[in-house]
Amino acid sequence: MVAFDPAAVRGQFPFFARHPACVYLDNAATTHRLGSAIDRMVEFYYDENSNVHRGVYDLSERATLAYEFARETVANYLHARRAEEIIFTGGTTDALNTVAAGLDGEICVGDEILITAMEHHSNILPWKALVDRRGAKLKIVELTPTGELDMEDFFKKLSTRTKIVAVAHVSNVLGTINPIKYITKLAGTVGALTVIDGAQWITSGSIDVQDLDCDFYAFSAHKTFGPMGVGVLYGRMEILEKLAPFRLGGGMVQKVTAEDVIHRAPPDRFEGGTPNVAGIVALPCAIEFLKSVDWTKYRDHERKIRSTIEKGAEEIPGLRLLGTASDKVGIYALAHPTVHAHDLASMLACQNICVRAGNHCAQLLLPHFQISQSLRASFTLYNTVDEAATLIEALSGCIRRMS
Ligand code: ALA
Repeated sequence: MVAFDPAAVRGQFPFFARHPACVYLDNAATTHRLGSAIDRMVEFYYDENSNVHRGVYDLSERATLAYEFARETVANYLHARRAEEIIFTGGTTDALNTVAAGLDGEICVGDEILITAMEHHSNILPWKALVDRRGAKLKIVELTPTGELDMEDFFKKLSTRTKIVAVAHVSNVLGTINPIKYITKLAGTVGALTVIDGAQWITSGSIDVQDLDCDFYAFSAHKTFGPMGVGVLYGRMEILEKLAPFRLGGGMVQKVTAEDVIHRAPPDRFEGGTPNVAGIVALPCAIEFLKSVDWTKYRDHERKIRSTIEKGAEEIPGLRLLGTASDKVGIYALAHPTVHAHDLASMLACQNICVRAGNHCAQLLLPHFQISQSLRASFTLYNTVDEAATLIEALSGCIRRMS
């Protein structure tokens, strides 16, 4: 079997041709963009620039066709039942806020929303605000020492009071892959809705929302090699039909009088205002690229990177790898007892290695690992095993100098 070839992937990203020495390991924050997606955006601005769903002239009709083509492409990729189940948002955060605000009327005093200790703030704060508004309660599923969901705790906290279960498909700090299909099944036994933050999964494997049987699934184009400022919210149509719109304005209403407002059907109801049309029409380029990836080969490649990081980290005195789940993607959080993650990240930056340091917008994780910060290196399809070795060598040198 021919192995996965990150060099062939890298060739499709103009950034690396212009910055060949950059060791970019901050893909969980944002990936680089495919040349095809950049070209498509430029083409839109040069030749098709106009608003969608509003004009009857040729330019606007072409923009609308391209925009709806993007919706169909995403729907097919996620295996949604119909294109109308795909809502374009500004990103994952915007998508999760749309769901939480839209479900406001469904939550009452005494109800519970179940999240986990590994959630990103964007899958905590909208729910926290919702429970505070409605007199409901937020429950948090704890983790095991390896950074996996403690399913016994999940069982304990799931009850007939649980109205929503909101979980990351993959932790943005630990890389842990959560058992989403199992979670949606359990949530179904108590009639809870399921909201999945897919931001960190989309570049590690294929996705089938019908098979996962989730009610909502969100991701961002900018972490998927596509444009910034574009997100996708998949919602099951029966629920979208009941969900209150969050962004009120042009393009989302059918009728407005001083007394009454009739909203359009989904997805228009959730896309008030002018969307990021150039970004959205470029999203199919990223989806076409994802469709071309052999995920089995890529996961093998991920395992080689993992082994390099794990073996290397073990040999660096004091360095601790957080999150050692049996099934995880290429996201590695590392903590040292005496050297601050920000110092390490700055020293790595001087060697042209880009990583993130801090709490990674996932502060519920900190007490679990008894840390206040960590360094995070996140790999994706264009990263090589050599880059993992370079990171380890650089880290070893930095820690030696700082200890
Ligand atoms: N959510 C992004 C991260 O994890 C920005 O870094």
